[in-house]
Amino acid sequence: MSVRCQVTIQLSIFKIQYSKMIDLRSDTVTKPTPEMLKFMTEAEVGDDVFESDPTVNAFQKKMAEMFGMEAGLFVPSGTMSNQLCVSVLTQPGDEIIIDELGHIFNYEGGAASYLSSVQIRPVKGERGKLSREQAEAAIRTYNDWDPHTRVIAVENTTNKGGGACYTKEELIELSNLADEHGLYLHLDGARIWNAITTTGIEPEFFGSVADTISICFSKGLGAPVGSMMLASEDHVKKARRLRKMWGGGMRQVGLLAAAADYAVTHHLPLMSEDHRRAKILAETVSEHSDFEIELNTVESNIVIFDTIKEPAVDVLKKFEDQGVAMIPFGPHTIRATFHFQVGEEDLEKVLEVVRSYEG
Ligand SMILES: Cc1ncc(COP(=O)(O)O)c(C=O)c1O
Repeated sequence: MSVRCQVTIQLSIFKIQYSKMIDLRSDTVTKPTPEMLKFMTEAEVGDDVFESDPTVNAFQKKMAEMFGMEAGLFVPSGTMSNQLCVSVLTQPGDEIIIDELGHIFNYEGGAASYLSSVQIRPVKGERGKLSREQAEAAIRTYNDWDPHTRVIAVENTTNKGGGACYTKEELIELSNLADEHGLYLHLDGARIWNAITTTGIEPEFFGSVADTISICFSKGLGAPVGSMMLASEDHVKKARRLRKMWGGGMRQVGLLAAAADYAVTHHLPLMSEDHRRAKILAETVSEHSDFEIELNTVESNIVIFDTIKEPAVDVLKKFEDQGVAMIPFGPHTIRATFHFQVGEEDLEKVLEVVRSYEG
């Protein structure tokens, strides 16, 4: 059996009834609340391809102002938002420096090479974060035969890196490095809300260090759909056309912008609870002799830990039999991600399942 076939089968094991489970597979699994649905139905809508959806226009302006950027563009997904940023910042043959755990490198189907004809230079950082020194060492000289380094891309929080957050100082150093070399800094802020919650950094700071930002409303904030590219007016104008070419021009999409707006207003304040619960899970995991975890790696809503006796998939099967879903993140690694639809009682149940695990 080929490796690809094995992996597909392994994944299909997990396509089971999650609706009845405490679902910690991802923070993307949330369902719209009745209040969010009501808010959506009350949204005033228009045709956004004609730029005449008032809810979208107001929300783009609101997010751009919040992050200190000139303009915003509402798009269906974080992948589209990242890829639009890549496309407007680069020319074919350019190179993007990114941590080797970065989403753009690992989970976007090779889109940067397909859509923008650029290559990615993965660099080994720490827990998905790049330091100034690591990024600087990867910048190329400017010869005809070199790919031209054009962008440094960072992720905050890091997904595959387990929810690690950049400090202000780290981002300022990377931004200065980009300026010194005439490069752009792109920020994949799919979970920027978690970074803001953990660090207390004000959103407009991110606009002062990055040239382009991608933010998502469909992760821990709990909107059903929606991301936004934030950038200069020029870059957003260019991206608007690309979005249409790539099939992402949407019509009465104020319905979805309303859901995203509702999520920012009502669900962002709940995020600190997700982080508190993640830490409690991490402590319980650390007390079990069949698991290994570095407690100080849990900075936001993601908990990554290793299994000692059994492969991750076998451990997960036992968890699922007791109504708790997480995902494999390596042969002996598991990821659990908290979101606002996992409450205190759910947490108690998860802790019980973890404590009672026998390898
Ligand atoms: C860090 C990061 N960037 C981008 C994305 C892509 O978002 P989407 O699934 O909406 O395309 C994700 C998705 O989980 C992510 O974790």
